[in-house]
Amino acid sequence: MASTPIAVSVLSPEQRRKQDETSDGLFYSRPRFVHHLDGAFRSRLTALYRERLQPDSVVLDLMSSWVSHLPEQVAYREVIGHGMNAEELEANPRLSRHWVQNLNEDQTLPLPSDSVDAALIVAGWQYLQQPERVAVDLLRVVRPGGQLIVAFSNRMFPSKAPLAWLESSDRDRLSSVARILLCQGWELDQLLSEDTRAEGPLGWLGGKGDPFFAVIARKAHGRGHG
Ligand SMILES: C[S@@+](CC[C@H](N)C(=O)[O-])C[C@H]1O[C@@H](n2cnc3c(N)ncnc32)[C@H](O)[C@@H]1O
Repeated sequence: MASTPIAVSVLSPEQRRKQDETSDGLFYSRPRFVHHLDGAFRSRLTALYRERLQPDSVVLDLMSSWVSHLPEQVAYREVIGHGMNAEELEANPRLSRHWVQNLNEDQTLPLPSDSVDAALIVAGWQYLQQPERVAVDLLRVVRPGGQLIVAFSNRMFPSKAPLAWLESSDRDRLSSVARILLCQGWELDQLLSEDTRAEGPLGWLGGKGDPFFAVIARKAHGRGHG
């Protein structure tokens, strides 16, 4: 069996620090049945999924909650969910199964190698203190030719975001995610940086919604894991 490769370090120890260093388990112990992103962002994300995700594929929604933003009309073979709050994940109607794991304490995913067609992270990367290690293990579980979509906006729980994220511009965040993925062996497919239009009357008047950013990466076809 091949051993998991060591992650290439990109962030400094200082950049991994966050204001609230208590265990994330404490922060996520009570469920939050709220939307973390506005309707404009969510619609854009669902459209991207419709375009990018093949029906009947195995999808991993890493850092999920009670919603996965997948197009309602499309059936996937399996949607595996991961998050920090079991109640939220149990309430998510798209998930076939789920597990709870603090990725700031343990970055090894309990999934077989090459078993996932597409991995998704929405408004989650910003809380990772060891994103390089998570990216390495995601590269293991995604099948050759499969993809990873990391989507985010400019909102966050500031006390829980590592300084690397907290103190960066939107543009720097996009390039940081891309750089970390590239350094671990992912191939970059597309970078998206878009304004959205607010839903309803505000949008008719030209009001903007949450900005939409995404990094889409691929695992090379020839790259297997034993
Ligand atoms: C802002 S919510 C976004 C949830 C969901 N993806 C959505 O779009 O509604 C951030 C999520 O990141 C995940 N998360 C935060 N800190 C984490 C940690 N230390 N380990 C694993 N997951 C974490 C949790 O699942 C949490 O719900």
